[in-house]
Amino acid sequence: MKIGIYGGTFNPPHLGHMAAARTAVEKLGLDKLLLIPAAIPPHKELPQGTPPGAERLAMVEKMADAMGLPQVVEVSSMELEREGKSYTSDTLAVLHDRYPEAELWLLMGTDMFLSLHQWHEPEKILKLASVCAFGRAAEDTAAQFAPQREYLERTYGAKVEVMALEGLVEVSSTQLREALARGEGGEYLLPAVYGHILMHGLYGAHADLKHLDLPELRACSYSMVRQKRVPHIRGTEEEAVRLAKRWEADETMARRAGILHDCTKYLELEDQLALCRQYGVELDELEQKAVKLLHSKTGACIARAVFGEPDEVYSAIFWHTTAKEDMTTLEKILYLADYIEPNRDFDGVERLRELAYRDLDQALLLGVETTIQEMEERKLPIHRKTLMARDWLLSHGVRLTEG
Ligand SMILES: [Fe+2]
Ligand SMILES: [Fe+2]
Repeated sequence: MKIGIYGGTFNPPHLGHMAAARTAVEKLGLDKLLLIPAAIPPHKELPQGTPPGAERLAMVEKMADAMGLPQVVEVSSMELEREGKSYTSDTLAVLHDRYPEAELWLLMGTDMFLSLHQWHEPEKILKLASVCAFGRAAEDTAAQFAPQREYLERTYGAKVEVMALEGLVEVSSTQLREALARGEGGEYLLPAVYGHILMHGLYGAHADLKHLDLPELRACSYSMVRQKRVPHIRGTEEEAVRLAKRWEADETMARRAGILHDCTKYLELEDQLALCRQYGVELDELEQKAVKLLHSKTGACIARAVFGEPDEVYSAIFWHTTAKEDMTTLEKILYLADYIEPNRDFDGVERLRELAYRDLDQALLLGVETTIQEMEERKLPIHRKTLMARDWLLSHGVRLTEG
């Protein structure tokens, strides 16, 4: 088994870290990659304004999630939990005990590699692990690294692989932190990491969450969910805008509602209930147990309270799961966009898609009927508002016509 070990302060984790991690997994053929945020790095004092370990851990977890390799990539808090300085030699000793048969590969960038002989216990490090060093362009890397590589091989019997990360936009963590404090730098970060920084005001980023532009709003939304949900959210945003154009609703509101509609999807029941209490959302008996029904309510509350969205967006998100009687156009649009966005695939989705652009009320009725039927088949309780939505449409003369 080949295990890659990628330590560092990850202050913050940026696209360069992600590219290095990906390249290492592919080129070394790693079975496992451990991302290990350091507590106090031995080589340098942490700069002022460095977020606490828990925040850096949370950001690295978002990066790991975004890599989309859950069987391979793991985040370890072992250095954050250990007392005192984070020495790589200690970490490798622990990992060698844990995986005695494994081939350990230590991953590092240019600066770290060129100073490796000055680290704490280099001979121990190089006995326990091989080294994979990342450089910039291929030619530079080979030439720049050759003397150090030869020295380490000669002195410690080290095994060294040098890899170039071609086409990568260069940014140092120092420059990136400075940019973030000026309200810039998002282009060097994964959206989910950038959103986390904005929402928690890290690195002096003092974004006004109530007036975010679209890229920042998306980043914040994606920072709250798992990466695998992002395509659906993106699809819902675009579908909502298309429907808003077709039915002459406010496109900006439709877009922002789409971006935020599932932002609390991954909160546990406890946290959902706490948010409902905080924002005074009353819940019926079914809702108190059904975590799936709560994210629309809590998502609406977050959209309004945290991101300053207007009541129209609030109510569109609030009703996007159950629907209700007498809905506004924007509410219908989000409900249907969530149902038919391009990533959705179920029996009957084509008919619902066609209908959504031909007759909005008929499409809503079909959506609600489809949900009711599905719940009946799965012997699950049907939300009373969903039944009320159907009854309201029927009592207002809406009928499904063939076509
Ligand atoms: Fe949802
Ligand atoms: Fe959704």
